[in-house]
Amino acid sequence: MAGAISLLAQVAPLDLQREDYRASAALAWIATGDFQRVAERAPDFLHADELAAFRALKIARRQTSYLLGRYTAKAALHACVGPAFVPTAINVAPGVFNQPVVHGLVATPPLGVSISHSERMVCALAYPEEHPMAIDVEEIDAERTHVMLTQIGDAEADRARAACTSPDLAATVVWSAKEALSKALRCGMTCPFEIFETIELEARDGYYAGRFKNFAQYKFHSWHRQTSVLTLVLPRKTELGLALPHTL
Ligand SMILES: CC(C)(COP(=O)(O)OP(=O)(O)OC[C@H]1O[C@@H](n2cnc3c(N)ncnc32)[C@H](O)[C@@H]1OP(=O)(O)O)[C@@H](O)C(=O)NCCC(=O)NCCS
Repeated sequence: MAGAISLLAQVAPLDLQREDYRASAALAWIATGDFQRVAERAPDFLHADELAAFRALKIARRQTSYLLGRYTAKAALHACVGPAFVPTAINVAPGVFNQPVVHGLVATPPLGVSISHSERMVCALAYPEEHPMAIDVEEIDAERTHVMLTQIGDAEADRARAACTSPDLAATVVWSAKEALSKALRCGMTCPFEIFETIELEARDGYYAGRFKNFAQYKFHSWHRQTSVLTLVLPRKTELGLALPHTL
């Protein structure tokens, strides 16, 4: 059964290193075009409650995001837990703020997941609950840049444009960082966007990195892959080891 999980999703391990702490996490992703092939295997990896929730969905777009979100969440959990992982025993259910909560997994340390969907892909991150993290993926879309910029301050927009190779990429990186932070905090984008203000955005070797003005304990790393920006938010003092393929 666990084999059903690893066949279609791509998985990359993450090494999390701090002065007195070391742990593993995992990132999994899949193209939305793989929906049909995954749907055929739904009973092999969904918990009974998830299967009922999936079958009750009427809108194709939500069927895709729900199913592939659970699939990648379990692929990432499988990578962390190992061969003993039984995906059908695990229920990734929405919490009271719609945040994904992992039920039924006995793991030390306890693991959480973060999920994100775009038109092109769905991804999920499995991480130790003791080390809060979150993920966001966004498609770079020139038609959305203007809307994003209405929620981005002048200073952070200028910094992002100086660091990124295009204005559309710059706006998407900042937006994605804010959305990922809102998931790590569990509040979503329900508070004034300026609270999530980014600072110190810079281009590094193959990714963008930055911090948050009001949440000094967190930082973000963003990768530009094809038409997408993928962002991870993680504790500021953690060194992240992640080799993200260019084919993502
Ligand atoms: C969290 C939020 C920013 C995600 O935005 P989105 O456009 O759905 O973007 P993504 O595809 O990147 O993320 C979706 C995933 O975020 C996760 N998520 C939803 N709410 C979350 C929260 N409060 N904290 C952490 N993660 C959350 C879910 O896993 C969801 O996927 P799933 O429904 O398939 O499990 C957005 O939903 C939000 O602002 N929510 C707060 C407002 C709210 O609660 N609205 C709904 C009330 S019914």
